[in-house]
Amino acid sequence: MKAAAVGDDFSNNLEQFEVDSRIVYPSYKSFDEFIDVPRLRSLDAYIADGIKRHIETQKEDYFINYYRLDENTPYQPGVREIWLSRTKPGTPYDYLDLDQTDLWERTEAAAEFSLLMDFIETLPFKQKGRMLIIYDDAGLTVPAHRDHVESEICHEFIWFRTNLKKPFYVLNHETNEKKYVESHSAWFDSVNQFHGSDAYDGLSFSIRVDGTFTDEFRKLIPKPEFNLASMPSLWACIS
Ligand SMILES: [Fe+2]
Repeated sequence: MKAAAVGDDFSNNLEQFEVDSRIVYPSYKSFDEFIDVPRLRSLDAYIADGIKRHIETQKEDYFINYYRLDENTPYQPGVREIWLSRTKPGTPYDYLDLDQTDLWERTEAAAEFSLLMDFIETLPFKQKGRMLIIYDDAGLTVPAHRDHVESEICHEFIWFRTNLKKPFYVLNHETNEKKYVESHSAWFDSVNQFHGSDAYDGLSFSIRVDGTFTDEFRKLIPKPEFNLASMPSLWACIS
């Protein structure tokens, strides 16, 4: 599947897929019980300083918002990214490759954040694919969006942060109920459920690592009989 781009038809953006009746949106699964939160918190100033240095010296990459809830919101809202891994040269772009771990390699930016990379090694991944820091210091929002529209594809990822500043939410767009993530880490259904972040006055950031969870970790996760993308919400709702 090709990712949507500016001017593409938005009719599939609001397409709904059937999910297990036990699932309620909005919902997310905190991973705080599975990760070393004190170690993560201890990296707060280190990562903030690294981002500030990066802003001064490096070319900026921008977050791209494909599957927006409201097509009138910006495709490129201005929130920036630091890519800690990229696909190897010659790999054609396909968003759905973000967990194809063989395609990815660390970037030079990863060396600027070596303590963060050491922390990432402690996460329950067998292999890692895309790794990036998403940050903003200009009071911008990330409009509500979903990450893709393939309901039988579930990306295994951990979204995490060293502080709780970023007002990041998951959204039930039918009831308009927003749930702000309150934990340092989360895995969430990024397909059946929209998500985004509100503006924050100052520097805010989060990190997302995609890959393949370890077999041991996978055993903890309840698997839906259909709509694999809903797996994080099924886990959140029955645990
Ligand atoms: Fe997203």
